[in-house]
Amino acid sequence: MYVSDLALNDFRSYREVVLALDPGVSAFVGRNGQGKTNLVEAVAYLSTFSSHRVAADAALVRQGAPGAVVRAKVVHGDRPTLVELEIVAGKANRARLNRSPARTRDVLGVVRTVLFAPEDLELVKGDPAQRRRFLDELMVLLTPRLAGVRAEYEKVLRQRGALLKSAGAARRRGSRPDLSTLDVWDGQLAAAGARIVAARAALVATLRGPVAAAYDEVSAGQGTARIDYRASIDVADDLPAPDASALAGETTDAAAARAAAEEQELALTDVAAVTERLLDAMGRLRERELERGVCLVGPHRDDLILSLGTLPAKGFASHGESWSYALALRLASYEVLRDDDGAPWDGDGEPVLILDDVFAELDSRRRERLATMVAGARQVLITAAVPEDVPAVLAGVRYEVAEGRVERG
Ligand SMILES: Nc1ncnc2c1ncn2[C@@H]1O[C@H](COP(=O)(O)OP(=O)(O)OP(=O)(O)O)[C@@H](O)[C@H]1O
Ligand SMILES: [Mg+2]
Repeated sequence: MYVSDLALNDFRSYREVVLALDPGVSAFVGRNGQGKTNLVEAVAYLSTFSSHRVAADAALVRQGAPGAVVRAKVVHGDRPTLVELEIVAGKANRARLNRSPARTRDVLGVVRTVLFAPEDLELVKGDPAQRRRFLDELMVLLTPRLAGVRAEYEKVLRQRGALLKSAGAARRRGSRPDLSTLDVWDGQLAAAGARIVAARAALVATLRGPVAAAYDEVSAGQGTARIDYRASIDVADDLPAPDASALAGETTDAAAARAAAEEQELALTDVAAVTERLLDAMGRLRERELERGVCLVGPHRDDLILSLGTLPAKGFASHGESWSYALALRLASYEVLRDDDGAPWDGDGEPVLILDDVFAELDSRRRERLATMVAGARQVLITAAVPEDVPAVLAGVRYEVAEGRVERG
């Protein structure tokens, strides 16, 4: 798919901007702070309903304005669709699809984007929440109805956490709180949690090959990337953790270790079995959960383990390696979405690829390789402060961005 038209009102630094876009490469060039990232952030927002830069939507609304509107015409195959989101800080978004009011959940999945930005370094260096978010966003793009399961899980998690805290406190005061509501929450947490675990584990299996291939490509063969899902239910059940030093290499032992790890991962895709295992673990952990007042097992405690050769990437990978790894995760996401057989919207699942400030960070060889890799995408939106940073093979349309104005060059 591609975005043929974009209109913003009161989004970030833009009072109003209307932009026609072509398929292929569009590069937004301009000095720092002129609004390049703001533009592509708006496009990405239409696909994830969140920003890669801020947790709260308030920052997306132009200072002093009551709300922002992001409007786009997107083309799947050759069928156009109009998507509109109104962002009002502190309130639910309002959505329109082909000019009619729509539920936001019906708009999810219409616009598919994969955005790579400097913030993605956190995927490798940051805490597990970053990597869970990476998996969940991709999972929801592939299967929009899982957004509802995620929301349900978050809600149950909060309520169960609150109950654990109050019941734990009551017990410390010497009373005997009624724990029957807790059983109800356990059931709901396990049911929603298992669906998320299963979807993530399946996604990790799908991504593993593309991530390894993309890393190999970006780094010019300078290391082997491997991703594994580490589920807290596996921790609770005393199952082994993915260990890069055992999983890497060409030996038969390593191959056996990989097969075992993938077997363990496959077991996580069985929703009914994981539901049971979660319930069981919550039973065993109840005392500790009451003591600590937190939910100790479930997808909110899981992680995506990134290995590079025989070492975990986190804590060991160099800056350049971490950067290449994050890029490989995004390029692999692009590929998985593009090749998604079940894509709605005329089967056109190819996302818009957005590269925010990426080329400046890469040496010239990596730059050329990345450019070659993305040159065939249906639409690539690039931002760069210096025009020379955009490789020549990515000729295409240039836009000058200055002081909130965007002009086609
Ligand atoms: N809600 C908002 N209201 C008004 N202005 C905003 C808002 N959010 C961000 N800005 C302004 O937008 C500008 C940043 O724009 P953006 O991040 O798109 O810059 P950029 O062109 O990508 O710069 P760089 O090359 O440094 O990445 C800043 O000057 C910031 O003050
Ligand atoms: Mg920027």
